[in-house]
Amino acid sequence: MKKIKLFAPKFDNKEIIASTKALRSSNWASGAGKGKVLEFERRFCKYIDAKECVALSSGTAALHLALNVLDVRNKEVLVPSLTFVTTVHAILYNGGIPVFVDVNPHTLCIDPDDVRKKITKNTKAVMPVHFGGFPSEMNPINNIAKDNSLHVVDDAAHACGAKYRGKKIGSENELSCFSFHPVKNLAMPKGGAITINCKNSSSIRRKLDSLRWCGIDNRNGPFYDVTSLGFNHYMDEISAAIGIEQLKKVDASNNIRKRIAKRYNQELKIEEKMPFDKNSSYHLYWIRTKNRARFMKNMSESGIEVGAHYKAVHLMSFYRSNVKLPITEQMADEIVTIPMHPSLTSNEIDRVIKTANLSVKQ
Ligand SMILES: Cc1ncc(COP(=O)(O)O)c(C=O)c1O
Repeated sequence: MKKIKLFAPKFDNKEIIASTKALRSSNWASGAGKGKVLEFERRFCKYIDAKECVALSSGTAALHLALNVLDVRNKEVLVPSLTFVTTVHAILYNGGIPVFVDVNPHTLCIDPDDVRKKITKNTKAVMPVHFGGFPSEMNPINNIAKDNSLHVVDDAAHACGAKYRGKKIGSENELSCFSFHPVKNLAMPKGGAITINCKNSSSIRRKLDSLRWCGIDNRNGPFYDVTSLGFNHYMDEISAAIGIEQLKKVDASNNIRKRIAKRYNQELKIEEKMPFDKNSSYHLYWIRTKNRARFMKNMSESGIEVGAHYKAVHLMSFYRSNVKLPITEQMADEIVTIPMHPSLTSNEIDRVIKTANLSVKQ
């Protein structure tokens, strides 16, 4: 029986032609961000309806540079522990202090009440993660941020095309960080972006242009200055060429993801599962079960790939601390991610639902 993949990029001849053209151009990358990178950036900015967009080499690079422009050195940054580890690494890359916050058990997004409780005089920013593409509760978070003069940097790695109150994630928030990792909703070999929406968007954009290319600034032909400790985080041309094609299809493929999520939500006889919301981009779909090991074993033995996104970051050896996050810890013990990608056939979806319903009973 054919194995059902947990995640998979969907592409066709368009991406093959675009990447071949980019290869043949011999212009594979440039720190100045011209060519396909600039074209991708403009198109993505328009798609999101952001003031500015800076294309980068990964979602991790986006998180790294977004916090770098805010300067979080020796400052506390509030972050959920239930996320991919680089959401938190980005704080340490910049000399900041991660303060872990619990999540809402129904959405697995950051809990605004716990955010409020964990603010101190030294807090500088809060980082909501749109878990699985489910939009975080941005209104209460933005209000808390405003009342306490905090910056908001949202991790939108899963949320390309997701909406909050009718507006795309990335179109309103100060700094939103996207990932275009091969299994994300918009896939590239490697890529990421920051969208910017604030009063000084264009000056932040200029800073980020320099930071993504080793601190290079004030170019004049072959001459340039270096004005900061920048990084090598610019996007390459082949990824951008693929991304331009992927961007044309992202809404259609998100609609397929939503249809799959709706079926899972209606047909899985499992109480604890990701809610259905047409505003979510469904990068992943999660269920929870107390018998996780057995459930995962049954699914794998039936040829269905499953995952455990995510183990709580505050329980990883590198981050281990005494902080107690009761909801996060329970979720991290029970969560299972099941196949979610736009190439799933209806027979495969049937198989996932049937096997999951049987496995949860055993
Ligand atoms: C929530 C979250 N944040 C950040 C990242 C990092 O993105 P990238 O792999 O493009 O560096 C990921 C990637 O999986 C992610 O899932």
